[in-house]
Amino acid sequence: MSYSTLRIERLDKGVVWVEIDNPPANAISDALVDDLDALLSVLEADKTARVLILASAHPKTFVAGADLKMMTQNASKYAGQGGAIRDAASRMQRVFDRVAKFPRPVIAAIHGHALGGGCELALACDFRFMSGGTIGLTEVSLGLIPGAGGTQRMTLLLGRAKATELIFFAKRLSKEEAEAIGLITKAVEPERLREEVIAFAESLSERAVFAMGLAKQAMDAAVPLDHGLTVEAENFERTFGTGEPLEGIAAFLQKRPAKFLKDAAAKA
Ligand code: COA
Repeated sequence: MSYSTLRIERLDKGVVWVEIDNPPANAISDALVDDLDALLSVLEADKTARVLILASAHPKTFVAGADLKMMTQNASKYAGQGGAIRDAASRMQRVFDRVAKFPRPVIAAIHGHALGGGCELALACDFRFMSGGTIGLTEVSLGLIPGAGGTQRMTLLLGRAKATELIFFAKRLSKEEAEAIGLITKAVEPERLREEVIAFAESLSERAVFAMGLAKQAMDAAVPLDHGLTVEAENFERTFGTGEPLEGIAAFLQKRPAKFLKDAAAKA
């Protein structure tokens, strides 16, 4: 099987190293979502794939989040067609949920920026090692909300108060800040990321990985996310009705600060 946006490396002890390679920005396009979906089907069925590592081939970025250029095109393409934006976003949410439910351990090896959907993908993993860049749910700065599980998984991981602060202010944290609040498992030096993550993956792989998968499923049953994910997907679509994404995404693409408070900005 070949993938246009993923590079797969089979390592010793059943460790699979997957690099996301979707230039120029390593944003999450439809093709990347489709590739991840197909890869998960292959690896779920392949019991020799004992531990999965998600990494990136981009020089500076782990994953830059949803593809904002594609999203802008979709927003105009689907204008007036209720539910179409939600359907597109829900596919990403569903595939990230598959990552979260993968029946063996999954590790994110984050060497660069993990923003928006990039942070959500990392949150869907069981462990996060980070060596550089920034991590955070940046969607509100664009007039959006996290739509691929971020509102749910950030809140579960860090609690409501911290998640509110990070999401409202669209904070981008360094590896040290992320480690201090428990958002990542471990901050590591850039030259040691691959080595440390593979050593960690091998130590997991020597243990009972199928038991880990079953433990994961049982832990997830403590707080079923289905309803929360549905509300998240509905509200993601509703952000487009507020007009805020129009300004937020345009401002990002035009490399200027967003002016959500237009009257105040006009008076200034
Ligand atoms: N979707 C589409 N294009 C994106 C993108 C995204 N999520 N993130 C970056 N790009 C594009 C930029 O528009 C730019 O395009 P241009 O060369 O045509 O101007 C190019 O990728 C490089 O981005 P730039 O910001 O110049 O690079 P950088 O190295 O200084 O910063 C990031 C990289 C990832 C930190 C920065 O681009 C960023 O903050 N991206 C947005 C992340 C985000 O908030 N994602 C949430 C989406 S819901």
